[in-house]
Parts: sequence; structure tokens; C-alpha cells
Amino acid sequence: MTVRVLVFYGSYRSDRMGIRLADYIVASLAARGGAAELIDAKAVGLPMLDRMYKEYPRGEAPEKLEKLAAKIRAADAFVFVTGEYNWGMQPGLKNLTDHFLEEWFWRPAAIASYSAGRFAGARSAVMWHGTLSEMGMVVISSALAVGAIGEALTADGKPTGAAGASLEHAFPRFADDLFWWSEAAKMQRERKAPPY
Ligand SMILES: Cc1cc2nc3c(=O)[nH]c(=O)nc-3n(C[C@H](O)[C@H](O)[C@H](O)COP(=O)(O)O)c2cc1C
Repeated sequence: MTVRVLVFYGSYRSDRMGIRLADYIVASLAARGGAAELIDAKAVGLPMLDRMYKEYPRGEAPEKLEKLAAKIRAADAFVFVTGEYNWGMQPGLKNLTDHFLEEWFWRPAAIASYSAGRFAGARSAVMWHGTLSEMGMVVISSALAVGAIGEALTADGKPTGAAGASLEHAFPRFADDLFWWSEAAKMQRERKAPPY
């Protein structure tokens, strides 16, 4: 069973670093047999939330929203690559996720946090855990946490140094855990239609 994973990343900064981790996760999931795709909020370019996807009459949502809704519905699992701004979430990623609700339901999500400092975006990860649960995802217990993001990965997403080695050590369990829950949720969705 090929697991379809969307990897979400939401920094809009010109000099952004977290894209390295997002690229690493997409490549590493693919190397383990997953069908992984990066959803870069900056590239998607949704406006600040006005209407949620579901608030548009059927067939009348802007094309960007319609395309992303279809991708979310077709996915088996999600990874949220979450940086930390002032102990909080990055607004670009939060804005993108808030456009949807039911589209996320009945699927697992994993959190990969990072920051420039030693705490590896842990405070943002804690906030995302509650938010993803509220949006109907089952947050798996395996997580990635990458500190010193600028030193842990090269510009093309290759792990380097001690932080990079630690990331590579953690990744197999993270991916296996996500794939296991993805398959479990997919089988259950096929066996029994979600109640709502
Ligand atoms: C506005 C802003 C606030 C930040 N606040 C935090 C913070 O609270 N904790 C932290 O560890 N790093 C913080 N940083 C440093 C970020 O971890 C670092 O810049 C990281 O690369 C940001 O992700 P990005 O490059 O993908 O945008 C902050 C950076 C910015 C730009």
C-alpha cells in the first residue's frame, strides 16, 4: 500500500531555513516508499482567511482552494513542518490550514518542528498538537525536533554534523509510525464510511 503524504511548510521569509527540513522529509519519505508531496504555503499563496473552502457554494471556490482541497482529501497522512516565531506558530502555515476543516478529518498527522535555537521549535509543536487534534487529525506520538536548523541541514536538504546525524537517527521510527497509522486509518475509512 503506497501511503500518500502531504508535507506542509509555511514560512514566507525570503531567507527561510525550514524549507531544508521540509525537502529532507519529502525525499526521505519517498525513499521509504511513500508518495510524498511538499505543500509550500508561500507558493500556494492563499490570502488571509476570508471564507473557508466549505463556505463557498460547491464549484465556486477559488481554483487554489479547490486544488488544495482535492489534494488533502486524496491524502492518507500529513506532516506539518513547524517553525517557531516568538514562541508561537508561523502565521503562513496556520492561515493555510484554517481554510479547511472536514477535508483533514480521519487521517494521521505528524509534527516536525525546528528552530534556530536549542529548543527546536518545541513550543510551536505543542501548539500545533492541539490545533491538529481540533481539526480532526490524529497526531502521532513520534515527532521530529531539529535545533540549530541552519547547521543541521545543507541548503539542498542533506543532513550535516551532529544535529543532522540525530535527525537521520530519528527519521525511520517517525516514518514507520506515520505509515502504520496511515494504513490503519485508510483501511478503516474503506471498511466503514466516516460518520460525518
Ligand atoms: C519573527 C521571528 C521570531 C522568532 N522567534 C523564535 C522563537 O520564539 N524561538 C526560536 O527558537 N526561534 C525563533 N526565531 C528564530 C527561528 O527559529 C529561525 O529564524 C528559523 O529559521 C525560522 O524559520 P524559517 O527560516 O523557516 O522562517 C524567530 C525568528 C523570527 C523571524
